[in-house]
Amino acid sequence: MKRLLHAIAASVSLLVSPALAQASPSAARPQDDALAPTGRWSANTAGRALTPPMGWNSWNAFALDIDESKLLASAMVIKSSGLADKGYQYINIDEGWWARRAADGRLVVRTDKFPSAKGRGGKTSFRPLTDRLHALGFRAGIYSDIGRNSCGQLYSDDKPNLPSGTVAEREVGLYGHVDQDVALYFREWGFDYIKVDGCGIRGLPADAPKVLDGTFRALTPLIDSDVVSRTNIAAVRDLYQQVARALATSNPDGDYVLSICLWGSSNVRAWAKDVGNVSRTSEDIFPTWSRMLHNLDSVARRPLYAHPGSWNDPDMLYIGMGDFDASHMVEARSHMSLWAMLNAPLLIGMDLRKATAEQLAIFGQPELIALNQDPAGNQAVLAHDSDDLMIFVKTLATGRKAVAILNRLGAPVDMTLTAEHMKFSDDRPVTLRDLWTGAQSSFAKETGIKLAPHETRIFMADGTRRLPDGLYLSEMPGRINPAVDGVVHPEDEPLIHRGILPWRNTRGGGERPRYAGWGGAQIDMTPFGGTLSVAGRRYVTGMGVLANSRLEIRNDGSRSFAAMVGVDDSAEDSEATVTVAIFADGRLVSRSAPMRRGEPPALLTAGVADARIIEIVTRMDRPVGGRMPVDLLDAAFTR
Ligand code: GLA
Repeated sequence: MKRLLHAIAASVSLLVSPALAQASPSAARPQDDALAPTGRWSANTAGRALTPPMGWNSWNAFALDIDESKLLASAMVIKSSGLADKGYQYINIDEGWWARRAADGRLVVRTDKFPSAKGRGGKTSFRPLTDRLHALGFRAGIYSDIGRNSCGQLYSDDKPNLPSGTVAEREVGLYGHVDQDVALYFREWGFDYIKVDGCGIRGLPADAPKVLDGTFRALTPLIDSDVVSRTNIAAVRDLYQQVARALATSNPDGDYVLSICLWGSSNVRAWAKDVGNVSRTSEDIFPTWSRMLHNLDSVARRPLYAHPGSWNDPDMLYIGMGDFDASHMVEARSHMSLWAMLNAPLLIGMDLRKATAEQLAIFGQPELIALNQDPAGNQAVLAHDSDDLMIFVKTLATGRKAVAILNRLGAPVDMTLTAEHMKFSDDRPVTLRDLWTGAQSSFAKETGIKLAPHETRIFMADGTRRLPDGLYLSEMPGRINPAVDGVVHPEDEPLIHRGILPWRNTRGGGERPRYAGWGGAQIDMTPFGGTLSVAGRRYVTGMGVLANSRLEIRNDGSRSFAAMVGVDDSAEDSEATVTVAIFADGRLVSRSAPMRRGEPPALLTAGVADARIIEIVTRMDRPVGGRMPVDLLDAAFTR
């Protein structure tokens, strides 16, 4: 039905003259037409996350066994080592702090672990701890669950560190208590950051053993982490939106961070950008190389879903443990380089009392921190993608480029880096400065680079831009919001590394693809990872989108926009037509004729001076059964 409405809306809009379309965007916007321009940026900007949050979290080092002295010890190292001055400011308590929920609904802190929370009149309070952290110059983070019960309660046997009491007293999650808990955490206790997990809405069906034995109340699961079509995406999203609203109410100054922890389930990789500040794209990281690759891959092809205010979160750093411990410095540096390039939150996960000077230097590497915190907020994009090696390129606010080359293999690799990877002219010199060694080098056209097993080489690169007076859309993912990405039925991304799960080994058939977000919008490739190709010609630069999508793009003062647009050769329907329209602040400024697969691309140009939001809308004339990718080739703003 929705599709039909879209199709009708599409045909109606084709009849609208540009003059009519220039009426105010709201007047022109049919109620149920998600493709109608809005003239607005709709990805989340509430909260305090213009750059990815940096700090420390207790989980990787201590799991449920966290206490005040452990937390403060790591905080003090962050302070004394200078990491605080470099931006590590959040000290986040993960699970393990709850004692129970009192009869009046107020949460009680475990004072055996957090003695400063003892309070008066039987009311515990984290205020003394957050006061102390604030006095030290830090911000403080707390942990909760969107359901009634927590991940630890469902999946851990660490009883001494879990809430105790009656069934009701052990219901410590936000479910049914959103406003009360958020007000307690933020207004009364003074927290600045909340991580909201989702186990309580995934693991308590009526037949769960812990429900049958009376440990917990049943809560019909909204999430099936393995099967997105069995997940009530709208209901999950609505619960997190309630938290976002409560946070805005409790923090009128906007000084808060909402971290959504749905481990890539619930199609969250597509919608978290509209609701929260950071959002987990995969299951938990473990200190193994293979698991790090899994988490990395879960963000690697999602640069368009991260912007100032809402970041992809491949989970906390595991530097200091396992495959990233003090005897694996190559892997530790790779992990840090990749998290920096991908605009991941930089949350240290180790017990810093045990950190070596070399490990502290990795966390504190100033140039990597600057990449991560670059104000343009462009998550690095893939310039080369294989199971063996990845090249990530990040365009900085200054227009300069950083490039990271990851050898995923346990064997050395000889690779070729080209000027084209960075969209530099290949007849002019390119200089590279290695951010770990400081070594300088230069080349023209291409250069050979050797990588050790698991090594990431990371460089600042300077060259002559192939587009001298502008920026390709491919270089500004932080300014592009796929407001409607055209995905009708969420599908799981098949390209994410699937290692042997440490806790299952090879029992069963292995880890299946299970993070929805396949399709949508991509940089320099089709939504399904193919080469951009129109009428038999291949292109290296452009955006791949789906038909029936709407992109919002922030203009930063450019005067004109141009793109060659066409239906990608991989489209599964040759009869349907797609029209591409460009709007400036809600006003139609350019529109293609209806185009079919196999037809050559059409040039669209538009004057956009003074316009703040450009929208690109692709509309199909009819519903089709298969995939309909559309290419915006060499799409760019020029000054
Ligand atoms: C989930 C989260 C982890 C951690 C634990 C706590 O597994 O993904 O990051 O918060 O819960 O139990």
